[in-house]
Amino acid sequence: MKITSADFATSAVKLEQCPAGSYPEVALAGRSNVGKSSLLNSLINRKRLARTSNTPGRTQLINFFLINDSFYLVDLPGYGFAKVPARVKAEWGKMVEGYLSQRKQLRGVVQLVDIRHAPTADDLQMYNWLKHYGIPAVVVATKADKISRGRSKQNLAVVRKTMSLNEEDPLLLFSAVTGQGKDEIWKVIGEWVQQ
Ligand code: GTP
Ligand code: MG
Repeated sequence: MKITSADFATSAVKLEQCPAGSYPEVALAGRSNVGKSSLLNSLINRKRLARTSNTPGRTQLINFFLINDSFYLVDLPGYGFAKVPARVKAEWGKMVEGYLSQRKQLRGVVQLVDIRHAPTADDLQMYNWLKHYGIPAVVVATKADKISRGRSKQNLAVVRKTMSLNEEDPLLLFSAVTGQGKDEIWKVIGEWVQQ
């Protein structure tokens, strides 16, 4: 995908605050600290448009980035962080489930998992949510630069098994450090947003 423009558009904590209009959207979901914001920055060739951090739970808002003046990439707040009060977790659930279940512009979700670890119960729940609402999804195993190729292959099989992916369900390997997998992710997103 040729990126001609990428701009932060707005943040939302509820559906009413999401952008008006009918541009299609693709959201990034995954555990806190898994690398959602890094993937977004890598996709649009920018170092810091989406804020990244070593502190899990940094992105607590739904952040919208307008790409090529024609579609949005949506950075969802991460789940699964331990040090957050139950009240905040409940708010998170309400916000994200509301967005996933009601946002008409949503065309697909890129769900990130960490290639170094087996998917968690939270990852499974998110994936099952996507299935439940009939939202097209691609699972992306990120931080591929942190382990060897052989190990990646083994771990991809674990991801496929743990998340009960069918053979036709897409599972891609990615690294924000090397850019590995970027073109394949864009191919999927491009089809979803018809670019
Ligand atoms: P929240 O906003 O808290 O939900 O986190 P996030 O999912 O947006 O993660 P973020 O992109 O902020 O990345 C978390 C940490 O992982 C940062 O220190 C990144 O530099 C690092 N990171 C992300 N992707 C990669 C990757 O592909 N390889 C390596 N080596 N580090 C990565
Ligand atoms: Mg983030």
